[in-house]
Amino acid sequence: MGVTASAPAKVILFGEHFVVYGEPALVLAIDRRTYAKVEKRSDEKIHVRSANLNLSGYFQDRNFVVEEGDLKEAKMKFEPIKLAVDKVLEKTEEKVGLDIEINSTVPVAAGLGSSASVVAAVCAAVGALQNLSLSKEDVLRISFEAERIVHGASSGIDPAIATFGGTLMFQMDTGFKPLEAKAEIPLVIGDTGVARSTRVQVAKVRELREKYPQIVEPIMKSAREIVLRAIDALKENDLEALGDLMNINHALLYGLGVSDEALEWLISAARKSGALGAKLTGAGGGGCMIALARNEKLESVVEAIQRAGGRPFIARKTDEGVRIEHT
Ligand code: MEV
Repeated sequence: MGVTASAPAKVILFGEHFVVYGEPALVLAIDRRTYAKVEKRSDEKIHVRSANLNLSGYFQDRNFVVEEGDLKEAKMKFEPIKLAVDKVLEKTEEKVGLDIEINSTVPVAAGLGSSASVVAAVCAAVGALQNLSLSKEDVLRISFEAERIVHGASSGIDPAIATFGGTLMFQMDTGFKPLEAKAEIPLVIGDTGVARSTRVQVAKVRELREKYPQIVEPIMKSAREIVLRAIDALKENDLEALGDLMNINHALLYGLGVSDEALEWLISAARKSGALGAKLTGAGGGGCMIALARNEKLESVVEAIQRAGGRPFIARKTDEGVRIEHT
């Protein structure tokens, strides 16, 4: 008998990077999900297989043994999962072995929060398998701790949206606040296919901020104003203003050096084909960009991104955070 749980991917609409320094950010859960199926084993191994990454292996005592794929890569991807499993199992007396199967429709290492969605889905599935009735707050706390190993200093925005879904305003000291977003927010996501590390991108911004505090500080302040203005635009369903704000937000991120050539191609193609605004999303340096467009323009933005060498898809927001699919 197994349990399957799922959690959504996300896009940051406004405020990535600045959020690490206490500024607010707006984040949206999207209709792409990661599924984690867990079953008990007869031994005490924690066995993990990721169908999309073609990786599998198991943890036994303190060791990790790879079965499929590269050892270093498998260990790096599976370590947060193991940590999350240990944290959940701490709540029971029972010593159990598990088979964990991950299936995802979320592009990996692309700024869409795939790793947080994996960890949140695994936590919920293991909790349900052990009849632990974990609250969403429990899932968030455990996912946040596990995610910290992969991303280093992180704001916690990815685990928060993977757990709760919807549209959130997130700020490190005050946490998150669900937003009433009446706007439909029609988005095209363009994946550059260039993998990058959030940790490296965050470190880049930190260095620049230390080197030029007087210059970077006003950029942070502008980013905050963008988020505050965007909250009003979301309430008023003002897509034009949201597009403008996305363009300005991207310019600030570009200034901090976290865009790259592939992102610039896709962003420029999206704008030329009628998007109201476009920006990188997540950590940048590759990964994904987002473009906001009126419904009638979505297809031409999709085509333009494809012609510019990206992998586009249309994304819709979802209110569903982490959930049990079936037991
Ligand atoms: C990553 O999705 C968003 C960053 O702001 C890092 C973080 O908030 O942890 C770049």
